[in-house]
Amino acid sequence: MKTILLTGATWYIGSHWAVALLEKNYEVIIVDNFSNSNENSLIFIEKITWKKPKFYEVDLRNKEKLEQVFKENKIDSVIHFAWAKAVWESCDEPFYYYENNIIWSLNLFEIMEKYYVKNIIFSSSATVYEPTWIPPFTEEDLTWNTTNPYWTTKFIIENILRDLSNHKLFNVINLRYFNPVWAHKSWLIWEDPNNIPNNLLPFILKVATWELEQVKVFWNDYNTKDWTWERDYIHVIDLIKGHIKALEFIQKNEKGWMYKIFNLWTWTPTSVLEIINTTEKIVWKKLNYKIVDRRKWDLDSSFCNPRKAKEILFWEAGISIEESIKDSWNFIQNKKTNETKPKTTRSNW
Ligand code: WQD
Repeated sequence: MKTILLTGATWYIGSHWAVALLEKNYEVIIVDNFSNSNENSLIFIEKITWKKPKFYEVDLRNKEKLEQVFKENKIDSVIHFAWAKAVWESCDEPFYYYENNIIWSLNLFEIMEKYYVKNIIFSSSATVYEPTWIPPFTEEDLTWNTTNPYWTTKFIIENILRDLSNHKLFNVINLRYFNPVWAHKSWLIWEDPNNIPNNLLPFILKVATWELEQVKVFWNDYNTKDWTWERDYIHVIDLIKGHIKALEFIQKNEKGWMYKIFNLWTWTPTSVLEIINTTEKIVWKKLNYKIVDRRKWDLDSSFCNPRKAKEILFWEAGISIEESIKDSWNFIQNKKTNETKPKTTRSNW
């Protein structure tokens, strides 16, 4: 079976990827430096799949150690997740983000080229779309004017990969999505940040468990029914299914020069207050929130048209935000009862 290299796969979405690929009998190699995760993810991946991915604790900046991975393994495709991803942090530390997300990615791409590993799926983002345009965005829409360093790094890597496709025979698929939420059905993997959450749902759920006092709603001046801003919150299982479809698609293309972009979206934008209200019904308690000023980089609305992924990858999202929140809440409840055995639910990839 083919060997897939996952960079940064011990954090939230990457670990879901590893589970999915192992369950589809791929050989999986994980390269990670544990900058935003820990070895528990590897233990949980093994508990869920009863398989042990090959793991190298390597930082992409260490070119020699990274090359060793390619020397020791015949790699078919790469899925690139190794990213610093906190927007506010990127505004405070732009040079760290440019170095970590761009410069060290170049190490990966250079070694891929040296070892004739041409297939790469890049976990990109819908944040590359021109923010002044009115959604829903399609893959042909302009990408420009990113509003913070983190989103700029996504934009730059997409364009570097297009060059490598045009001039170095890389097969590239950029997958653009926005707000992944959820926990694995085993309730052993979730976006359980080591510190104060950056994103909305983990923050709300920490208020639901009284770990945090209040949800700050960043402004309410957009024409949704409750005036709070809207996003497309995608269930991680749907997202990972899209990644697998992209992997199967790219593996069929032996001749190189592929450069494809797909929006992975549910097509159903949800406002901040809708998320809060839905969560209240699930956790059976009123959640304390307050309207505060907007974040300077924030977009009031972002969602895309997923038609191309449906027509070409035969993929479409289908799981509700309510189910995503329910499973995230189940993770938290399960964690509190310290129940460590995975549920028998195998992922239906
Ligand atoms: C969602 C909505 C906030 C927190 C981020 C990254 C982006 C992407 C997805 C990769 C917004 C509002 C949030 C809070 C709030 N990742 N909000 N109070 O900013 O849409 O996108 O994740 O591509 O790079 O920036 O996600 O969860 O921070 O915000 O009101 O405490 O919730 O204004 O409308 P965001 P988010």
